[in-house]
Amino acid sequence: MITLNTKKVLPFIQKEAVTALKPQVMNAMQMLEKGTGEGADFLGWLHLPSSITDEFLSDIEQTAKVLRDNCDVVVVAGIGGSYLGARAVIEALNSNFQAYSAQQTAVVYAGHNISEDYLFELMQFLADKRFGVINISKSGTTTETALAFRLLKKQCESQRGKEMAKKVIVAVTDAKKGAARTLATQEGYKTYVIPDNVGGRFSVLTPVGLLPIAVAGYDVRAFVKGAVEMEKATSVDVPFEENLAAQYAAVRNALYSTGKKIEILVNFQPKLHYVSEWWKQLYGESEGKDGKGIFPASVDFSTDLHSMGQWIQEGERTIFETVVSVEKTRHELLVPSDEQNLDGLNFLAGKHVDEVNKMAELGTQLAHVDGGVPNIRLSIPVLDEHYIGQLLYFFEKACGISGYVLGVNPFNQPGVEAYKKNMFALLNKPGYEEESKAIQARL
Ligand code: PA5
Repeated sequence: MITLNTKKVLPFIQKEAVTALKPQVMNAMQMLEKGTGEGADFLGWLHLPSSITDEFLSDIEQTAKVLRDNCDVVVVAGIGGSYLGARAVIEALNSNFQAYSAQQTAVVYAGHNISEDYLFELMQFLADKRFGVINISKSGTTTETALAFRLLKKQCESQRGKEMAKKVIVAVTDAKKGAARTLATQEGYKTYVIPDNVGGRFSVLTPVGLLPIAVAGYDVRAFVKGAVEMEKATSVDVPFEENLAAQYAAVRNALYSTGKKIEILVNFQPKLHYVSEWWKQLYGESEGKDGKGIFPASVDFSTDLHSMGQWIQEGERTIFETVVSVEKTRHELLVPSDEQNLDGLNFLAGKHVDEVNKMAELGTQLAHVDGGVPNIRLSIPVLDEHYIGQLLYFFEKACGISGYVLGVNPFNQPGVEAYKKNMFALLNKPGYEEESKAIQARL
């Protein structure tokens, strides 16, 4: 199992401050379990891992095979919760240089921005490729995704023919509502349903995450198995003291109440960059409301020690960090010895590169604690499907608990609508006439 170490927060908060939150944390866990808290309509993720059937996974694997057999590139079109989970897992498992490999079906992403250059360059890149699309949108109406899909559908049909396009376009959307559903029904695409009771940022264990992960060639069964193990390990019956999710939720809320308003998710493996992006959405959208919430930020070390390191070491003391530490690398590489030793690195000769990385990690932890930054450490034995399944479910569970302890509804995101309303008014979208007039007066 992945493990959690909170010893290095103790110079900053008393153990009792964490224990004092036990009743609130246990209450939050009961609220999740019994569905008595706000946002209870969106608790489908809670026991999702253990409810996934073998039959369902076989179907996902079969669809992934159709896409892999017929495509060199598959575009995952989606934004926020409709793409970050898949990207987090795929990039954590991919080779760092996967983009340059012609061996596997490549997964690329669209529908998460409105950049004309991005879309143009993507279409140019796809122009000589056998490509397919997984169109993911729960609402089926998200502008970024719908716009990208409109372009990709046309290109796929003209490049590959209407019949093949039908085979290599898959829709993951609401069971009934939304334009993506209407279009998929009309065109006869293979479709998957995003359950009503699972919000975007909690949907990585639905087809939203599982299909792209399988298309990328990874073992969705091992991923789900890891999540099932964590579902058990963090269940309401597991005592507070032994429950990873309860502990993490308690510690971060205890830190928040002492003025630590920013949490930085840290990795020492660049492959974890998108796990941090996924985590930021999960915690940012779940907790940042009603004028409250820890601000989730992230850094990739040791890279960012040479940019953000100064701020973290000596800037305003409002931060704490959570380090996702990978115990064992997938590959081995020793530092070679050099006769001339002009770079002075012979003291490292014969050591694993990872040993140097681990000492950077330990040195950073000690330096940051000395500098006033509480440190939480999550250890993953190795970066594989199974442990990533554990990790993502752990963060989901802790997020649900933490949000309720904070006193917010962790399962809505009303603030996300504000920019959309203005954008539609500025673009004169039908139905936004009043808003258009009002916004013109403000320009
Ligand atoms: O977590 C969320 O609910 C959001 O990030 C959504 O996933 C995101 O806005 C995309 O929405 P949709 O899937 O409806 O296109």
